[in-house]
Amino acid sequence: MSMGERILILGGGVIGLASAFELGKRGHQVTVIEKNKCGGQASGAAAGMLAPFSEIGEDPDDFFQLCLASLRLYPTWQKEVKSLSKCEFEYTNSGSLHAVYHEADLLALETRQAWQREWGAETEVLSANQLHQFEPELSTDIIAAMHYPEESHVFAPDYVKALEQACRNLGVLIEDELEEVAIIEWKDEIKLEAKYGKTFTGQRLIVSSGAWSHELEEIFSIRIPVYPIRGQICAYDNLHGRVKHIVYTSQGYLVPKGNGTLVNGASEDIAGFATDVTEKGIMRLTNWNYQIFPFLKQRIPFHKWAGLRPATQDGYPLIGKLEEAPHIIFATGHYRNGILLSPVTAVSVANLVDGMANHVPLHLFKPERFT
Ligand code: FAD
Ligand code: GLY
Repeated sequence: MSMGERILILGGGVIGLASAFELGKRGHQVTVIEKNKCGGQASGAAAGMLAPFSEIGEDPDDFFQLCLASLRLYPTWQKEVKSLSKCEFEYTNSGSLHAVYHEADLLALETRQAWQREWGAETEVLSANQLHQFEPELSTDIIAAMHYPEESHVFAPDYVKALEQACRNLGVLIEDELEEVAIIEWKDEIKLEAKYGKTFTGQRLIVSSGAWSHELEEIFSIRIPVYPIRGQICAYDNLHGRVKHIVYTSQGYLVPKGNGTLVNGASEDIAGFATDVTEKGIMRLTNWNYQIFPFLKQRIPFHKWAGLRPATQDGYPLIGKLEEAPHIIFATGHYRNGILLSPVTAVSVANLVDGMANHVPLHLFKPERFT
């Protein structure tokens, strides 16, 4: 195992910070290079659901396996982040309900249940009557829901802050607010240069620049089809205890946070790199969510925001070494599941650096697969 490498991490979102945390723990000399503020983009905007069963309904492929592995790393992972950062953040095993409105949806729910059970999901389809006990204020239009007791959530902005603090405590250097960062050399030594001439060198580079990753296509001469999909999202306040589970529907989701807010997400729109909130985007959520909880009809969200998910052409992230330059490791394109995938990505990246075997298959995620 090669120890104590000098590693540069490009991008201080949840993926860069989680990777820095794991590499820092393993004794590497890590520097996170962030052009703005760490966690200031998608990672700080996320709803924080750890919900592989709700998010991936179609196929038990390697991506699902990656998501599930990460969910199961979370109990230990979040404890470690808290202990090394000395910061608190919410991690709640609330369980979730995947709700449906029509008889015709029941078959799809049962198909999903059959294969998810094979993967160890303790799922149960609850009838409208049973649901009344689980989540008393749920709309009576919902005819059934799948209960996933394992699904959980974190308060994403606090989790990311704790990760940053844990990194600092481990001796990871955080170089943020650099405005612009360019890769000057990468074929052998890595050299990065920031706007006012400040340079950084290292033996390895981890690319975790989220929705901006395609900017590196030219320098690496590979296709990097990662593009921003804006998620507009809002929250209601003063709802302590009224909603207990994550509720997921085909039109949106609700996540009850420990601070009494109820997070309601999220749109998926193409708006380039704009992170503003539009009336139309939020109305799509507010026009629907009272069909989940009728009491929301009278309420106005107290907070609205948006973030840019790093989407990829095939929906899978890019995790792996460049074949021609194995000292360059990609960890980007996590689209809707970067918070969930942060532990497994970090461990996978660190195993790649240390030449250790990964227990989850990564070949589907090869960074050069689009070239
Ligand atoms: P980012 O957080 O965007 O970080 C990338 C960083 O790289 C940025 O800080 C950027 O400034 C920096 N950067 C870019 N280029 C450069 C450069 N050249 N030099 C230096 N720095 C650079 N995921 C879940 O798991 N569960 C959820 O419930 C969930 N809900 C979501 C809800 C919404 C509304 C949104 C928008 C996303 C949600 N996600 C969720 C997805 C999740 O937020 C993302 O997958 C994840 O944050 C991606 O992390 P990242 O570190 O790759 O990207
Ligand atoms: N995973 C939830 C979202 O991306 O909106």
